[in-house]
Amino acid sequence: MTELIWEGKYKDGKKATPIRIALPFQTIETINESKQQRQKTLDFFVAEPNSPYKDWRNRLIWGDKKYVLPSLLPEFAGKINLIYIDPPFNVGSDFSFTATIGDNPETDEDETTKFVKQPNIIEQKAYRDTWGKGLDSYMQWFYETALLLKELLAEDGCIYVHLDWHVCHYAKAILDEVFGYENFRNEIIWYYPGRERLSENKFQSKHDVIYFYGKSEKAKLNPIRKEWDREDRIKAMRRKIHKDEDGKEWFWETRGQAHGVDAYKRYLDEYIDKGGALNDVWDDIQFLRGNHPERVAYDTQKPEELLSRIITASSKDNDLVLDAFCGSGTTAAAAEKLNRRWITCDLGRFSIHTARKRFLGIDNVKPFIVQNLGKYERQQWMNAEFENPEDRLKQERTYKHFIIELYHAKPLDGYTWLHGAKAGRMIHVGSVEAPVTVEDIKSSIKEFWQLVGKEKSAQVNGVDFLGWDFAFDVNETAKQFAAENKVNVSFKKIPREVLEKKAVEQGDIKFYELASLNIDSKIDKRKTSITLHDFIIPPDDVPEEVQGKITHWSQWIDYWAVDWNYRDDTFHNEWQSYRTKQIPKIELTANNTYEAAGKYTVLVKVIDILGNDTTKAIQIEIK
Ligand SMILES: C[S@@+](CC[C@H](N)C(=O)[O-])C[C@H]1O[C@@H](n2cnc3c(N)ncnc32)[C@H](O)[C@@H]1O
Repeated sequence: MTELIWEGKYKDGKKATPIRIALPFQTIETINESKQQRQKTLDFFVAEPNSPYKDWRNRLIWGDKKYVLPSLLPEFAGKINLIYIDPPFNVGSDFSFTATIGDNPETDEDETTKFVKQPNIIEQKAYRDTWGKGLDSYMQWFYETALLLKELLAEDGCIYVHLDWHVCHYAKAILDEVFGYENFRNEIIWYYPGRERLSENKFQSKHDVIYFYGKSEKAKLNPIRKEWDREDRIKAMRRKIHKDEDGKEWFWETRGQAHGVDAYKRYLDEYIDKGGALNDVWDDIQFLRGNHPERVAYDTQKPEELLSRIITASSKDNDLVLDAFCGSGTTAAAAEKLNRRWITCDLGRFSIHTARKRFLGIDNVKPFIVQNLGKYERQQWMNAEFENPEDRLKQERTYKHFIIELYHAKPLDGYTWLHGAKAGRMIHVGSVEAPVTVEDIKSSIKEFWQLVGKEKSAQVNGVDFLGWDFAFDVNETAKQFAAENKVNVSFKKIPREVLEKKAVEQGDIKFYELASLNIDSKIDKRKTSITLHDFIIPPDDVPEEVQGKITHWSQWIDYWAVDWNYRDDTFHNEWQSYRTKQIPKIELTANNTYEAAGKYTVLVKVIDILGNDTTKAIQIEIK
């Protein structure tokens, strides 16, 4: 068969294949699982108490498809019934997004403002992975995606690949190679009428292409019909329409005459209501304009109607639907409403946040979980980046030196807890495997005093803690301990960009301080209310003029959620308030009534307008 070759497709005479490391997923949040709600949603989801799906949770995964897809294989190889992907292909605009500054609660007007958030380094890196060497790298990236998706697809499953004129013709050759030319079913043209634009050198592009493949001949379509527009259909029929005495319209149906069936009287309404067979040109689904109520401020968002059609045609109740490029979550939202199970992933933080809000807005949304590959992705990176995998200690040291250098500090050897120094401050680097805990901080502070005691001349005035993650109680407890011990501490997040070698080589990696959140709690017998009082976020990459538009701290907050009884496992989202286009205000107080006396940890998670989250724990006692 004819084969498409691109640079990088073959290495030493063999086709280069995707990374196949299966990393374990970490559940970072469960949504919709409060005790009462849990039962309600379970009952709703599972009509049959013995259903094999009763323990199933839909999954929203934050991560690059290159790690997520192989990690899904052990559990889902050959088990996904339907895959839809809408991969990035719109050169240049893949990773910027439009963020919205919320409403100031102290003014009456709705003064929400939008601004474009440029891609961060990791997103730029993903972009370079995809497009770095132009079409050649895109082809390899796309080919590897297709290979893994094929393994995930059930024998009677289907895949739909959404593209446009930029790459569709190349992608078709790859899909034929991976899925088999014989399994190609349709090139669907999604034609979207709308704004007309004249150009001097090309016709206006008005369609996307969706390639549809079955995994094998076992893949079947559910019959779906296209609704007819009455007037258009009557015109197209070119038949004389008669009227009964009561005004009911009919025509002579002549189809079948060639096989000896006599023409018969057919009522127009019944005929039109039945609709027609769907063909491969879909011109009845509108492109989502900026002001469309379904819009969730995600530039590449596709209409739910498009996905509903695909899902209805190629899956049934409870089937499992996968979308590896979640974006605003259109596929999962449509699957949810059609009672399919779903898994979706995206490497963009903003996508995950947008999708989570979107799912929460669906009536009776079934419980779902948010996952990532967390520390396993980092461990993987550490093993790959630093030599001596057999000598953990040496490896650990090389890793710490690396982070210290990125922080533009000098490594400090011979100490257990302090790993570097910069501008008179000491530095502790958190391990890749666990969050920085209060114990780590206390030990570092003790060592700091031993060191300062020894080197009285040193101009040291504090410790910077660099961590991938921080235990929830760090901000409060550790800051208090530090103050008692007269050490100034600051907590900074090691950005995910560090995982990407090229990003490190290219850019100045920024370590931002943890956002800080002030919360008040009021307890009245079993009733508790908590109120947000202040939220300060590091400037990150919000343009200055945008920062100037923020006149109340709560405008940084896009969403917040509460777990009223956190038990050191996963954040169980039991209450939440968030801004939507329709309701741009958020509440600043949440209430709960506890069923039993006891000591509880309340965990509050705030997500800012850029999709970053900050979590804080408070302890309460119900008597
Ligand atoms: C065209 S958009 C998908 C839009 C989506 N169909 C919707 O209706 O909202 C493509 C998405 O792929 C994501 N993406 C790009 N590269 C990725 C990768 N390597 N792994 C996972 N997601 C990726 C981008 O963040 C973006 O959200």
